[in-house]
Amino acid sequence: MAAPATLLNSSVGKKIVMAITGIVLSLFVLGHMAGNLQAFLPNGAVALDHYGAFLRELLHGTGIWFVRAGLLLAVGLHVWAYLGLTLKSWAARPKGYSVTDYEEADFASRSMRWTGPILAAFIVFHLLHLTTGTLHPHFVEGKVYQNLVTGLAPVPVALFYILAMGCLAFHLWHGAWSMLQTLGLSHPKYLKARKAFAIVFTVLVTGGFVLVPLAVLAGMLK
Ligand code: HEM
Repeated sequence: MAAPATLLNSSVGKKIVMAITGIVLSLFVLGHMAGNLQAFLPNGAVALDHYGAFLRELLHGTGIWFVRAGLLLAVGLHVWAYLGLTLKSWAARPKGYSVTDYEEADFASRSMRWTGPILAAFIVFHLLHLTTGTLHPHFVEGKVYQNLVTGLAPVPVALFYILAMGCLAFHLWHGAWSMLQTLGLSHPKYLKARKAFAIVFTVLVTGGFVLVPLAVLAGMLK
């Protein structure tokens, strides 16, 4: 059993862990975004409430806990691999980055250090806001559509969601790009395809998410 442990301790192993957990989390955000767009259907309130009930009742109520445990594990491993890689690169370069290196590093890549923690803070707030209702003054259990609209109605809350989706955009953009590189598409001939995929995926997911708080602010969802 030494081989898997050695792989996990190596930089390559950690990059693979980051890529695989990144795919799992990306698929989750894609599905979550698509689920949220049901709010725009003519019977959006009914559709969203039914969808929420369906998720909660999946496999007699155990399905949602499998999904939650899987997501928690994926986030934990993603952060663990990132910290492992960062500590390794600091140990290799104890004096830190020179100004030139810093300038050369691509903005989206450097942004991972702050978009990651902001997203983590957003997720904690988001769960307390729209899942448990702890931070939602008008929360009603099971009324997903109503909770969404009343929860995003205060302008600062809607703006916070929009800002967080901006961070998600940077994170997904660079994440998708790095993931494809780790998984073998590092040859320059794939450069355009990697760029295109990262941009299309990011715009699709974050654009879809951001439509909801924008529509609440504009009074389209009420
Ligand atoms: C504008 C953006 C977003 C909106 C409007 C939104 C909306 C919602 C709503 C309404 C729920 C409650 C669903 C229910 O009770 O059935 C929910 C749950 C959740 N959202 Fe979001 N969401 C957004 C972005 C995100 C993002 C970016 C993530 C992760 C990176 C995320 C992760 C989650 C998680 C983990 C849950 C809890 C699922 C559960 O365990 O019950 N959301 N979201």
